[in-house]
Amino acid sequence: MLDMADIGPGMKVLDVAAGTGDQTADIAGRVGPGGLVLATDVSPRMLAAAAANLSAAGLGNARTLLTAGETLALDVANFDAAVCRLGLMFFGDPLAGLQAIRRTLRPGGRFCAMVFSEPSANPCIGITVSIARRHAGLLPDDPYLPGALLSLGKPGLIDELFRLAGFVDLELRSVSAPLKLVSVEEYLRFVRTAAGPVMTILDRMSPDTSRAARAEMAAALSAYATADGWEAPTELLLVAGAR
Ligand SMILES: C[S@@+](CC[C@H](N)C(=O)[O-])C[C@H]1O[C@@H](n2cnc3c(N)ncnc32)[C@H](O)[C@@H]1O
Repeated sequence: MLDMADIGPGMKVLDVAAGTGDQTADIAGRVGPGGLVLATDVSPRMLAAAAANLSAAGLGNARTLLTAGETLALDVANFDAAVCRLGLMFFGDPLAGLQAIRRTLRPGGRFCAMVFSEPSANPCIGITVSIARRHAGLLPDDPYLPGALLSLGKPGLIDELFRLAGFVDLELRSVSAPLKLVSVEEYLRFVRTAAGPVMTILDRMSPDTSRAARAEMAAALSAYATADGWEAPTELLLVAGAR
């Protein structure tokens, strides 16, 4: 992602939907003391964790700013590069987000986004969501609804949005990134602590219904057990373009 955004020493970089700042720290290391990285996120708790992590790592060239990606109130043409790792698919209006990010870049500056690819390449996400929805009495969902985990995995959609936002010189790569864990139970714990859309559905159920849904998930997901643990096939899309 950092290579596709052409990030190098001395650059000023925008990190959108930075979460707890894991990739922000990588960027801070890459741009070095002469550069700067600004981590932004819509969640005050995520950003507070990012600020604490970056400060504990002694990264004096990293800053944080609380803002939604769609409404970045930043100076125009102020950044050399930008990235957004596993955040853009959560945006209610990803095109507005892309337009806002593009405005912050200097001419020729590159932006790279990482999102989940199509549902068939990320089967465990669909399994957990569909089981949770059925137990909650909800109809099957459209995986491509804005804000859904796989919403930007619809073939052709993210490159089209990049073009509509005005990005040029597009580069698109898909990367296999299987999630390798000790057991299916560890995956279900991960789903719980990641507090994503599945948890929102499970949290509204009675304890008995929620237990039944989790048991069905564990049974369905055990199909992905391996000789030495458990592995969720996962495919990511990396899309980059220049202002
Ligand atoms: C899966 S986390 C990814 C965090 C980080 N980029 C990483 O890869 O570790 C998604 C992040 O997107 C943020 N987010 C969701 N919608 C957003 C929006 N509209 N604007 C900015 N951040 C948003 C969430 O608060 C969360 O921190």
